[in-house]
Amino acid sequence: MTSSTIFDQFESGVRYYCRQTPNLFVTARGAIVRDADGNEFIDFVAGCGSLNLGHNHPTLKRAIIDYLDRDGIGNALDFHTKAKRDFIDKFVTQILGPRGLDYRLQFTGPTGANCVEASLKLARKYTGRHNVVAFTNGFHGMSMGALAATGSLNARRGLQGTMDGVVRLPYDGYHGAGMEDLERFETMLGDPSGGIDPVAAIIVETVQGEGGLNVASEAWLRKLRQIASKTGALLIVDDVQAGCGRTGSFFSFERAGIVPDAICLSKSISGIGLPMALNLVAPQFDAWTPGEHNGTFRGNNMAFVAAAGAIDIWSDRSFQKGVEDRSAMLGHWLEAAAAKHPTIVQRTKGIGMMAGLQFRDPDIAAAVAEDARRRRLLIEDCGPRGEVIKIFAPLNIELEIFAEGLRRLGEAIEVHCGNEQRAA
Ligand SMILES: Cc1ncc(COP(=O)(O)O)c(C=O)c1O
Repeated sequence: MTSSTIFDQFESGVRYYCRQTPNLFVTARGAIVRDADGNEFIDFVAGCGSLNLGHNHPTLKRAIIDYLDRDGIGNALDFHTKAKRDFIDKFVTQILGPRGLDYRLQFTGPTGANCVEASLKLARKYTGRHNVVAFTNGFHGMSMGALAATGSLNARRGLQGTMDGVVRLPYDGYHGAGMEDLERFETMLGDPSGGIDPVAAIIVETVQGEGGLNVASEAWLRKLRQIASKTGALLIVDDVQAGCGRTGSFFSFERAGIVPDAICLSKSISGIGLPMALNLVAPQFDAWTPGEHNGTFRGNNMAFVAAAGAIDIWSDRSFQKGVEDRSAMLGHWLEAAAAKHPTIVQRTKGIGMMAGLQFRDPDIAAAVAEDARRRRLLIEDCGPRGEVIKIFAPLNIELEIFAEGLRRLGEAIEVHCGNEQRAA
């Protein structure tokens, strides 16, 4: 059977990325992914942010191979293991300590959705309240609780059950929304006739990945922090996509100088795409009793081994400088592309290595992405109508490969810019 027959015949209709790029992929290294026919793709998707260090980073790969060679434990539930101890030690001393942060680490089931679920459950348990504030265009995962907090109708379409207990507020910049909207919400919360029940948690992405690379302002984030503290709600930053260096700092909220009550981390925490997730919980909110949020795969020790190595890689100042350089390069390229094609490109979006272009017409965005894929670029869109082309390269992508990927995308834009101008 050919591979496409196997997938078409036996795999669920839920599959998504493979419909856009149906090639049979075999190997990958850094930002290059190869298919069975030897075609090389440049990866601007990076496992949707789970491969911030690229594919098969040699140091992490070596660490996992050595670990397995020594018969290191694979899955250990939440038994104490050396691999987990070493990860915690590094995380506390190299990530939390230097930032003056004090959190308990809760290892959850190894997906972003599961750590989001855990954080919402914990906030509800701790506060004894049910209401959760979530934002327009927010994305928090596909399980029921995480989906309830998600804005996208497209994501929520498969759900028939009720998802009560979510108060949706406009995200910063949503159709002109800003500080005044938060202030009005704060007034309503404090008003006995405001009609909003007390809030257990406010869950927010400081940069909305799936929602269109929307960046919340520092002042807006600080206001959220203030409202949460004043009203006794937990401020949860969902850093599943924007964390682990994607925006230029390890945590995406560092630029705002806020300290969340809980932080959801997953995707790139293992550095090599192995499933892993954790919640960072401020000690006073760690109200869990033993086994209250269990999960079989909370002890993926190969992921812990890689994650410890990934922290060392991130902690190297020259690595961070490399991310700054690539962010600047990307920013300049995006500005130039937007300036060159104002008829089809509305604006640049995002921050750091989490950036892209918003097109005026989602169909043109789709056509550009499709064309870029034909030029062997792995790329995806985001935003409520798929109008934003998202550039999510590995943070350490080789500069020449990065430039080549951008060149291919530029060519694809050029083609469709021509089409639009002819049609106009
Ligand atoms: C901000 C955010 N939260 C949660 C999730 C869900 O993560 P997962 O797909 O691993 O469940 C995602 C996935 O894209 C995400 O971007």
